Amino acid sequence: MTGTVPTSPLRARAEIDLGALRGNVRALRARLAPGAGLMAVVKSDAYGHGALPCARAALDAGASWLGTATPHEALALRAAGVSAPVLCWLWTPGDPWREAIEAGLDMSVSAMWALREVTEAAREAGRPARIQLKADTGLGRNGCQPADWPELVAAARAAERDGTVRVTGLWSHFACADEPGHASTAAQLDVFQELLAYAEKAGIEPEVRHIANSPAALTLPESHFDLVRTGIAVYGISPSADLGTSRDFGLRPVMTLSASVALVKRVPEGHGVSYGHTYRTSAETTLGLIPLGYADGIPRHASGRGPVLVGGTVRRVAGRVAMDQFVVDLGADPGDDVGAGTPAVLFGPGDDGEPTAADWAEAADTIAYEIVTRIGPRVPRVYVNGQEDSEDAGRRGAGR
Ligand SMILES: Cc1ncc(COP(=O)(O)O)c(C=O)c1O
Repeated sequence: MTGTVPTSPLRARAEIDLGALRGNVRALRARLAPGAGLMAVVKSDAYGHGALPCARAALDAGASWLGTATPHEALALRAAGVSAPVLCWLWTPGDPWREAIEAGLDMSVSAMWALREVTEAAREAGRPARIQLKADTGLGRNGCQPADWPELVAAARAAERDGTVRVTGLWSHFACADEPGHASTAAQLDVFQELLAYAEKAGIEPEVRHIANSPAALTLPESHFDLVRTGIAVYGISPSADLGTSRDFGLRPVMTLSASVALVKRVPEGHGVSYGHTYRTSAETTLGLIPLGYADGIPRHASGRGPVLVGGTVRRVAGRVAMDQFVVDLGADPGDDVGAGTPAVLFGPGDDGEPTAADWAEAADTIAYEIVTRIGPRVPRVYVNGQEDSEDAGRRGAGR
């Protein structure tokens, strides 16, 4: 069976603090260069946090755009009644251009094949498509190479004159903005300025020009132009320890991942733990079983290392993370209050001594983006602080 996965918040849950998310959007907006707006990037189910509630909370807190990777993610927002501007940027031949046009989405175009498909769909739909031309200013991933920019710009202008498209944006994406002082960032900004000037001279009048992601939004005001596209920072996570911690930027992690201990048992010295027996008890001890595994997004790479707060103490994963469960060594005397049903917190904001997603990223030799995004559908998202409270609303009013 694929599709809907039966879940239970008793086993494990990801609590999503929408009040924290709204606070993060406000904190980010307060940093923006004058005139710049904020796009909340809600691709990949809002980095695992839940696209719809996060999109709505971000808009409540003053985000003016939403961003997704695939058109299907953007269409799902529209189907749920979200009417704010949405840009979707990862297109494959044959994708639903016409539906996107009819839904009033902004579509990124990086190549001539995409311009051909979108203009054809616009003719069928009988209305112009809103497109944003994406330049590869040095990332070397999606986007139009500078050498191919004149052809794409000329064809887009011709399509504007035909009435099949309206070029609403010119944009690009950084490669190394999370590495302070990296030479490629200034070089990309220079190329971006040149490509903007070229397109504007050719007659394109974009509503928005944008290149900044979270690290650039947090540290490079000269890159803000009309809009920043922030993902990870909206979810309260610093893009990189080299830039600073969440707290340094006034951000608060939105997701808290916890589980209920499923089993507590005494084992003798020398007992092997989990597949492969990569951990063996050094004395008689107490093991606690945590009902989350790599099928839920707990990285197997964090075997032997991942931190978990149980009974007021941070423990480490003992042995291998399995598909549905892993074990922690609770020691000789875990305390009378630790037993089946005790909460185990894998990560959260860190207020009560619990680890953070950044700690799990370090334990698994990855980035915190991957930790939160991979939490699977078997873990129910439990939303808290969903309603804007009066304090929220007051702060938001004051910021406008
Ligand atoms: C094109 C684009 N813009 C913006 C973002 C948001 O990046 P971040 O989460 O670092 O803010 C992403 C995410 O990878 C992206 O692919």
